[in-house]
Amino acid sequence: MPAIPADTSPSSPLNTQGRFITFEGLDGCGKSTQMQLCADALTQQGFDIIQTCNPGGTEIGKALRQTLLHHPGYVSETCELLMYVADRAQHMSEVVLPGLSQGKIVLCDRHVDSSVAYQGYGRGLDLLEIHTLNHIATQGRYPDLTFLFDADPALMRERVTARGAADRLEREQLNFYTRVREGFLHLAQENPERICVLDATQPIEKIHHAVLQALTR
Ligand SMILES: Nc1ncnc2c1ncn2[C@@H]1O[C@H](COP(=O)(O)OP(=O)(O)O)[C@@H](O)[C@H]1O
Ligand SMILES: [Mg+2]
Repeated sequence: MPAIPADTSPSSPLNTQGRFITFEGLDGCGKSTQMQLCADALTQQGFDIIQTCNPGGTEIGKALRQTLLHHPGYVSETCELLMYVADRAQHMSEVVLPGLSQGKIVLCDRHVDSSVAYQGYGRGLDLLEIHTLNHIATQGRYPDLTFLFDADPALMRERVTARGAADRLEREQLNFYTRVREGFLHLAQENPERICVLDATQPIEKIHHAVLQALTR
């Protein structure tokens, strides 16, 4: 799969003063924990931030998220992909792009890389088609920086189980998550400038420190 283009050159109409930062990885890897710590640190430093997520960062997104995570019956793989992409399209035009144009730092829990990792590597859907759909949904505005919290899926499963009731995706088989993890790592190899891989098994504070260091760079 080709590397995701980051069309944020000064001449691009999509270029803005704001910064778009995403948090990726398997459930339980620490996305919410690290995003909150990051948000607190940036706010303390005086930055204007927006904390948001895919799916679910808009009213339409919340409805899609409810179906995606909790629909008790059959959901086709293509339908699942398109719902994630539909959520992303709404979220970009309603939340991310307006925030960036106001010069804000937008922190987002999951984004384009999750579609590629879960629907592409996990479910086996066509990577190029996912890439095209993501391009439509994002209007070509990809994250400036992405944190990927990487760890063994079995370990992450333990963390998620400790958290309580599993949702539809959390009930998937372990080999599915192994493919998803490999997908994330492939993406990181293809986009070394954008994706910063951090070991999710390190202590929370140590990971937070690494996140802040990467942000400073
Ligand atoms: N580095 C870490 N080491 C140990 N436990 C962690 C770490 N980061 C997060 N956790 C714990 O693991 C669980 C899942 O973390 P969370 O941030 O909700 O992950 P995610 O949002 O990626 O699903 C939480 O109970 C959290 O306190
Ligand atoms: Mg979370």
